[in-house]
Amino acid sequence: MKEQIAFCCKRLKLSKNISEHYQDIKASTYEEFLLKILQDEVAYRDANRRERLIKQAKFFYHKTFDGFSFEDIRIPSKLSIEEIKAAAFLEEKRNLILYGNVGTGKTHMATAIGIEACNQNRTVLFFRTAALVNQLNQARKDDVLGAFYEKIKKAELIICDEWGYVPLDREGSQLLFQLVSDCYEKRSLIITTNLEFSNWVNIFYDEQMTAAMIDRLVHHSYLLLFEGESYRIKHSLMKGAE
Ligand SMILES: Nc1ncnc2c1ncn2[C@@H]1O[C@H](COP(=O)(O)OP(=O)(O)OP(=O)(O)O)[C@@H](O)[C@H]1O
Ligand SMILES: [Mg+2]
Repeated sequence: MKEQIAFCCKRLKLSKNISEHYQDIKASTYEEFLLKILQDEVAYRDANRRERLIKQAKFFYHKTFDGFSFEDIRIPSKLSIEEIKAAAFLEEKRNLILYGNVGTGKTHMATAIGIEACNQNRTVLFFRTAALVNQLNQARKDDVLGAFYEKIKKAELIICDEWGYVPLDREGSQLLFQLVSDCYEKRSLIITTNLEFSNWVNIFYDEQMTAAMIDRLVHHSYLLLFEGESYRIKHSLMKGAE
């Protein structure tokens, strides 16, 4: 009987979870049994999907908001901490620009929002900006740029970490500009940077293009200022004092 159940599950593209665990389900009516087994399958699939989305996003590290301090972060009045934690800006296709010094929690926050978005069944892509530009350049050389942009278009949230840490050449700047333009009002971007807008022109080559890029990014953005001192330094100094 168990084998037949497993066979039917396979044909119906249901998980092995059902044939392996149905005997553990406690229920006093048929309806209760059926409901529990269906709920288990839904939960099992949701968990698998979340895991797959997190893997596909290619986060640099795995961080959540557990233990994250908002103390030294200046948040615009229109945005609440709860909305940040719930990645609510995705609904309106808005962007976040996380600006501040090294080690102040920008990548941590971007990642935690990304993980929350995956938990909400959304597709996320995490890139270090220099690596993204390399990938775009390579895709252009290999004549697969269209396919690369298609992949990007499937994401609801694109995280560009370490934006402006490495200067770009003209082509790299153009490719990144195209990406920002493609995202404009269609999907959300999170940018983490320690470069103020007035200095962007130094890494993006072309003044007019930089202005056009800032214009698109800023239009539907929230700017968060990370004003603390570096966690890395603070914590390594504290460790030394112990
Ligand atoms: N507000 C915070 N609450 C809890 N942990 C934090 C916070 N800010 C930073 N950290 C921790 O400090 C370390 C550095 O943070 P993070 O990688 O986010 O820095 P960053 O702002 O992205 O720096 P960089 O500009 O050098 O990339 C991480 O391990 C992170 O978890
Ligand atoms: Mg970082």
